[in-house]
Amino acid sequence: MNEVLKVIKQRRTTRKFKKEQIKDKELDTILEAGLYAPSAHNNQSWNFTVIQDENLLDELNINTKNIAKSFPDETIKKMANNEKFDIFYNAPTVVVVSGKNDAMMPQIDCAAATENMLIAAESLDIGACWNGMVGFLFNSERKNEYIEKLNIPEGYTPYYAVALGYKKVNVTNTLKRKENSIQYIK
Ligand SMILES: Cc1cc2nc3c(=O)[nH]c(=O)nc-3n(C[C@H](O)[C@H](O)[C@H](O)COP(=O)(O)O)c2cc1C
Repeated sequence: MNEVLKVIKQRRTTRKFKKEQIKDKELDTILEAGLYAPSAHNNQSWNFTVIQDENLLDELNINTKNIAKSFPDETIKKMANNEKFDIFYNAPTVVVVSGKNDAMMPQIDCAAATENMLIAAESLDIGACWNGMVGFLFNSERKNEYIEKLNIPEGYTPYYAVALGYKKVNVTNTLKRKENSIQYIK
C-alpha cells in the first residue's frame, strides 16, 4: 500500500494530547495541506485561526460547555456538565476553521480543508481531533463576540475547529466500516 493510503487508513482521532507545543514548521505543513484542498469554483473559501493561548482556549472550552448544557442530547449535556472535560482535550494548538459567507459552498470547502489537515497531521505523527462541539458557541448569540475576539476576517463565519498536539496515547485499532455503503452501476 502506498504511503498516502496507509496514512488515510491508520488515522484515528486523538483525544489525549501531550502538553508540549508542536513545532511551528509542523503546524505550517498542516495548515498548508489545508490550503491545498479542492474548493467549489476554486473559491478557497476557508480561513484558519491558530490559537495557542491557553487562557483563550480555556475560555472557549468553558463558554462552549455553558451553551451545550441546555442542548437536548443527553451525551452532550453530560460532557458539558463535566467540569473536568475539556472540549479540546487539552491540545496545545487549536485551529478554528471559518468559511466565507458569499462563497459557493463554503462549508464543503472547509470540510475538505479540514480533512487535508487531519491527514497531514497523521503523516507527521501529530494527533488531531476535528472539533464540532465549539460550534455550540459559534452558533449561539455570542457568535459575533467571538468573531471579533478571534479576529476572524469580515464576511467569514467560524464553523468548527481542529485540535492538534503530540499524541499521549496512540490509538491504533481500526474502526469497523459500515457495510453496503457502495453500489456499482456498470
Ligand atoms: C464534523 C465532525 C465533528 C466532530 N466533532 C467532534 C467533537 O466535537 N469532539 C470529538 O471528540 N470528536 C469529534 N469528531 C470526531 C469523530 O467523533 C470521529 O471522527 C469519529 O468518531 C470516528 O473516529 P476516528 O476519527 O478515530 O476514525 C468530529 C468529527 C467530525 C467529522
